[in-house]
Amino acid sequence: MRLTGSLLLAALLTGPALAQPATEPLPQALYDTMVKGNGRIYPGYRVNHAKGALYEGSFTPSAEAAKLSKAPHLQSTPSSLLLRYSDAGGMPEVADNAASSAVRGLSFTFTLPDGTATDLMMINVPVFVTRRPEDFLGLMQAAQATKPDMPQPTPIARFLAEHEEARRFVTMAKPMPQSFATEQFYALHAYRLTNAAGESHFVRFRLVPEAGTAYRAPDSVAGLPRDVLFDELGTRVAMGPVRYRLVAQLAAAGDQTADPSEPWPVDRPLVELGMVSVTQAVPDGPLAERKIGFLPNRVLPGLDLSDDPFLKVRSDVYAIAFPARQQ
Ligand code: HEM
Repeated sequence: MRLTGSLLLAALLTGPALAQPATEPLPQALYDTMVKGNGRIYPGYRVNHAKGALYEGSFTPSAEAAKLSKAPHLQSTPSSLLLRYSDAGGMPEVADNAASSAVRGLSFTFTLPDGTATDLMMINVPVFVTRRPEDFLGLMQAAQATKPDMPQPTPIARFLAEHEEARRFVTMAKPMPQSFATEQFYALHAYRLTNAAGESHFVRFRLVPEAGTAYRAPDSVAGLPRDVLFDELGTRVAMGPVRYRLVAQLAAAGDQTADPSEPWPVDRPLVELGMVSVTQAVPDGPLAERKIGFLPNRVLPGLDLSDDPFLKVRSDVYAIAFPARQQ
């Protein structure tokens, strides 16, 4: 499915116009603006990536992983995984083939036998829509301030004219996968891996499906059942594990690490970190997913944050969002 920029934005970011008071802290402003853009509240659900499903699985590190990092989950011991697949947007009942669902999430917590844990959050697009968190607020505000009968240039048209990376993102093809098991996922932000010898590398994580990538023809997407991808995944996992390779893309000296809208050159080396196996749906998943959350700054020794400001800002936003959905 190829989405036009306006279609994707309309689906992702519709809602009443809102000007944020300049004094509001950025994470709160991001959260409030996202809530207002949703137009209504679904109690107990996430305000973004509201539709989701929880699975259990395991991660087995490769021998290469420990050469890059001393992080405990990248040594020889397998971790158990709690994974949540999601469709972007604030509507829990959104259709998997809706325009707003074109961005999909896969988040997971690795837990070692001694309880040591870390999170990884990914989406199925290799870059983010804005360079900085402030610009993401500006994008949401511009989308919400844009009304159908406005003369050009509308606020969103002005925003896109001024932000080449946002234009690139919204016009990028985002085909609907055959299955969550045939999609790639990217953590977008740079992290720093440090090994036992003290050598560090900046990396970007991605998941590559063992089944290979496979997408649907754009003209085959209309009319699919609402939960086609979630239902297919449930059936597939019941028949056997769904696997992905966890891969680190290594930065070269001088590659920027602060801007998730800018990919690194494709010739940067890829290192196999291990195998993710998704083995079973969590019993009572819809209830269980309300009680858990993920954080992009939940790291471990040997796995550190880069200077990407999204890592801190997003973690602060999620720390607001999690308690707000516990009522
Ligand atoms: C400033 C930018 C962003 C804001 C304001 C934002 C906001 C949010 C919020 C409020 C939630 C719900 C969290 C909860 O209730 O636990 C969420 C979920 C999520 N976000 Fe973001 N987000 C941003 C950027 C990103 C980026 C860059 C990624 C790419 C990895 C991402 C991936 C996800 C995923 C995968 C989920 C679902 C997590 C789950 O399954 O529990 N977000 N986001």
